[in-house]
Amino acid sequence: MSGFETISIEILDNVGIITLNRPKALNAINTQMVEEIGCALDAWTASSLAAVILTGEGKAFAAGADISQMSTFSATEAQQFALSGQRTLRKLEHFPAPTIAAVNGFALGGGCELAMCCDIILSGPKAKFGQPEVNLGVIPGFGGTQRLVRRVGRQAALELMMTGRMVRAEEAVSLGLALRIEEDVLTGAKALAAEIAKKGPVAIRLVKEVVDTTDRMDTDAGLAVEASAFGLCFATNDQTEGMTAFLEKRSANFTGQ
Ligand code: CAA
Repeated sequence: MSGFETISIEILDNVGIITLNRPKALNAINTQMVEEIGCALDAWTASSLAAVILTGEGKAFAAGADISQMSTFSATEAQQFALSGQRTLRKLEHFPAPTIAAVNGFALGGGCELAMCCDIILSGPKAKFGQPEVNLGVIPGFGGTQRLVRRVGRQAALELMMTGRMVRAEEAVSLGLALRIEEDVLTGAKALAAEIAKKGPVAIRLVKEVVDTTDRMDTDAGLAVEASAFGLCFATNDQTEGMTAFLEKRSANFTGQ
């Protein structure tokens, strides 16, 4: 697959890597980038990729939605832009394989919102996170009012969205926004993806699916979904292989079947 202008994509060791690639504009997210990220995810949804990593070219992950483009939007155009960004980010959030944001630099506004749609956020030492939309007289539009609250809690999320202040990597970790700091964040993300790739692929996808689908359920309903999915594992070759390998004291050779 090729022809993208705002992102570059590659598959390495069965891990898809999407690199936001408008470094001169600090990878600001315009309508074209929203579409291209969506297309890349669509093309990979039915694949057997072990994981997808998102990162940014240059000194930013993404410094937000493209202010030059947004500056002339009418109210209707702005709403459509928010809706299309939300649709693409939802695809990322629901991507069947694990997703990792390797936040190499600024992750602001739409950039922070994009990272928050990944299952795991790893932070480079120089990364800076924030929702600075209020500095521009607007609010987050790609899901920040929803996902930041869930990641860091209402109080911390409101403080960040009302002040627009940027937080460094250490604070992002202490808030629970990022999982940890990696000296070389892309290398760290690849290592994490490789670790996940060694496990039973069906089980990995089911872990994500159960966690996501039961998010808003009460515990009893969530436990019922978990029990069904646990049972389903026992209809797979991966379960037979995983348990046989353990008993035979060897590494499992999973096939994802
Ligand atoms: N949109 C468009 N262009 C952007 C951009 C953005 N979000 N962020 C940076 N750029 C451009 C700058 O205009 C500049 O372009 P020129 O070289 O052509 O002048 C280039 O990227 C480099 O930026 P700076 O010179 O400003 O770099 P810096 O290191 O001095 O500052 C920064 C970096 C603090 C991130 C600063 O660029 C900044 O504050 N950017 C805007 C961040 C922001 O407000 N993001 C939220 C956008 S709104 C949003 O995202 C809404 C939503 O939820 C959907």
